[in-house]
Amino acid sequence: MMWEDRRVMGDYPRAAEVKPAKGCFINNLWESSASGSSLPVLAPAEGVVFAEIAAGNEQDIDRAVAAARSAFDGGPWSRLTATERGRLLSRLSQLILENADELTELEARDCGKPIRAARADIQAAARYFEFYAGAADKVHGEQIPFTNGYYVTGEREPLGVTGHVIPWNYPAQMTGRTLGPALAMGNATVLKPAEDACLTVLRIAELAAEAGFPEGAVNVVPGLGHVAGAALSEHPGIDFISFTGSPMVGTLIQTAAAKNHIGCVLELGGKSPQIIFEDADLDAAIPVVVAAIIQNAGQTCSAGSRVLIQRSIWEKSVTLLRDRFGAVKAGLPHHDADLGPIINAKQKARVEGFIQRAREAGVPVIAEGGVRDDAPAGGFYVAPVVFGPVPRPDSLALDEVFGPVLAAIPFEDEADALALANGTEYGLIAGVWTRDTGRAIRMARRLRVGQVYINAYGAGGGIELPFGGVKKSGHGREKGFEALYEFSALKTIVIKHD
Ligand code: TAP
Repeated sequence: MMWEDRRVMGDYPRAAEVKPAKGCFINNLWESSASGSSLPVLAPAEGVVFAEIAAGNEQDIDRAVAAARSAFDGGPWSRLTATERGRLLSRLSQLILENADELTELEARDCGKPIRAARADIQAAARYFEFYAGAADKVHGEQIPFTNGYYVTGEREPLGVTGHVIPWNYPAQMTGRTLGPALAMGNATVLKPAEDACLTVLRIAELAAEAGFPEGAVNVVPGLGHVAGAALSEHPGIDFISFTGSPMVGTLIQTAAAKNHIGCVLELGGKSPQIIFEDADLDAAIPVVVAAIIQNAGQTCSAGSRVLIQRSIWEKSVTLLRDRFGAVKAGLPHHDADLGPIINAKQKARVEGFIQRAREAGVPVIAEGGVRDDAPAGGFYVAPVVFGPVPRPDSLALDEVFGPVLAAIPFEDEADALALANGTEYGLIAGVWTRDTGRAIRMARRLRVGQVYINAYGAGGGIELPFGGVKKSGHGREKGFEALYEFSALKTIVIKHD
């Protein structure tokens, strides 16, 4: 979020205790930001400022990139074996679990998410580091058959200094997802988290130092996107950049990467469909459809924000959807609500704008959830809603809302479902609900997305499963072994012998 936007939104009350900014985490130390200023951190469930973070700037990014460069070019980090890097990642995973209560509270307050969701996120962050700990020394090279008299190998080597810009929706998880594979491959990292939610990221950086990562391997510079984020993505000292966020900023990141002739991986969200055929098990499908849009209040790149329903089962599905969705409630993290608030006032206004415009256009409402009566008035809550049938050219059917708003659309047959599913600018993930194996496979092959689930959706994050999009959803793959290839380069070594 831009600082100017916040000024437009007005000032917020401060909590009784406001955690002071610690600074930028560079070379395993807290360094004051060169800007000398800090940014307020809001608890979105309460609408109060409860912490501050350093407003990192270009000079801080310079220092962080220099620290990472020294670590990579001959520092202690560069001399570790893959097995030793794996052990450090494993120790970090362990420390995250040992500090899970503290991290859970921090994540829940910073993002506003229900406490059980925050706990699951912290477990997932630990699991990312655990997965890449185990993978670090399993990346083997290859021997390539070539002309007589030559011995040729292909070896995977780290890229160097990797930049990472992450969003506010899953700060802890995203840290594991992006730093895990980069560190496993031996890169030295500089991460710019989102100013709206980054307290667990800063704490994880501190835990990385406690785990024993040598100085310069993990650097985190908090601050504004158009200041610190832009400085990192444009920095001539980085060798690769990984970004998750909006397509608009993704374009800036890719442009900056092109100017420096470096690679990038972009994960830019989606308008992911769940496609329900008339032979589907509706009792299994509907709860998953609801969960996939209320998870994190719809602020998930892979949110199932469209449900495409075969016309012959439209009425039955809508009735089930209405029953289930009508009971959903937003509320405070500790109130065991189904979802929390939206991250900030600007995003809330954006989501409400979609809802208002759809209502004014006369798009029918299938079901509405609510906000608990005890949710603070200052929190950024939005009652979840399902619209349908949403006209195909409507913005709700095409654009990413990033809120708890589900668009239901009827379809006629397999070809129609496919055209509809593939008919947006995005292509991240999709779900297909059918008992017909042949149809499931045909659909899986023809859907233009990075992941397809059959009679399931999302599979709890699936750390082991390569993840990423096509079209406006971005390119490159995170998670699983694929991420290790993104964060490394193949070197061909040709040896002539007698
Ligand atoms: P973005 O602005 O894209 O924020 C993502 C990250 O990029 C944050 O760390 C942000 O920093 C940083 N950033 C912002 N401007 C930058 C720049 N010029 N150069 C480098 N980095 C920059 O997203 P948002 O404004 O928070 O959300 C807007 C929309 O983006 C949402 O409605 C949603 O549609 C989409 N979004 C998608 C995702 C995923 S998972 N794909 C996640 C978040 C948002 P600051 O936030 O500190 O400014």
